[in-house]
Amino acid sequence: MNPLDQAVQILRQGGLVAFPTETVYGLGADARRADAVGKIFAAKGRPANNPLIVHIHDILAARQYAAHWPPFAQRLAEHFWPGPLTLIVQKSDAITPIATAGGPTVGLRIPNHALALQLLRQFDGPLAAPSANRSTHISPTTAEHVRNELAGRVDFILDGGRCTVGIESTVLDLTTDPPTILRPGGLSKAQIESIIGPVCEFNRIIHPDQPAASPGQQEIHYAPTTPAFRFEPEQLKNLPESNVARILIGQPSLRPHDKHHITLPNDPTHYARYIYAILRELDTHSLDAIYIQMPPDEPHWTALRDRIRRATRPLD
Ligand code: TXA
Ligand code: MG
Repeated sequence: MNPLDQAVQILRQGGLVAFPTETVYGLGADARRADAVGKIFAAKGRPANNPLIVHIHDILAARQYAAHWPPFAQRLAEHFWPGPLTLIVQKSDAITPIATAGGPTVGLRIPNHALALQLLRQFDGPLAAPSANRSTHISPTTAEHVRNELAGRVDFILDGGRCTVGIESTVLDLTTDPPTILRPGGLSKAQIESIIGPVCEFNRIIHPDQPAASPGQQEIHYAPTTPAFRFEPEQLKNLPESNVARILIGQPSLRPHDKHHITLPNDPTHYARYIYAILRELDTHSLDAIYIQMPPDEPHWTALRDRIRRATRPLD
């Protein structure tokens, strides 16, 4: 049987299938089935109060799983789907309440990845899928990452190569007026505003044991296991030298022979594609610490600044 047929068969039996998207790998199950979706939470060790994104393959399917489909949703979907944008709308009864953590809303997204779209089309149903990592770890951007995270906890892994975006989708809540960005991601605020006008940003960082409007907002999230610190460029000379890694921006070949001294280009698209893979790799080197240079406070770096803030503590 080919991998796609196998994946679909497992999903129809209520199993778990990890699949590629353009952002990160997802851990998918039939979003209509409480038994299937319950397995996602168990496999990830994810708190039951953190809702999942539901993936569909076209706008008609999205409308089917929304109790109301606002005009903004239609316009954004037409412009940016398939793509790294999750729209929060009122949910229909067809989606199991387990997937939405008992809440009245659902996050919907059409991923921009050929294999994911084939899977969704052939399965012909909604797939609840969080990132395919253990809760609070870094999202996987290759099938190998998923194997390392979830071996024995997932029924099947569809390998679609390296994710091209590399960080998670932008989550936009359309049930508020104006709409609110709950999580910055692969699609920028400016891109969204070019279609529907002003939106707010949800900025409050919440303590891990407090309930969050979108639990991805909890402070330490997406983190490596090695202690990780963020620093500003002027702090570079204060960093410890031995048994640590540094991730810098835009100063190529400062120390070309040091495999722990990594420089990424001053370009958020390229940076995003590789940062999680680099953190995972460094995490296997038994280092005392990882130091990450904070990208500039500019709009096109917003999502990466958010992820780095969540993965690190400030250096002081
Ligand atoms: O790019 C992505 O979004 C990836 C791929 C697999 O699609 N998925 C992903 O899922 O990152 P996850 O579960 O790791 O993050 C989903 C985020 C969480 O912060 C969750 O709290 C929020 O979206 N979320 C999901 N449904 C929500 C809802 N109904 N209301 C508020 N926040 C929601
Ligand atoms: Mg996640």
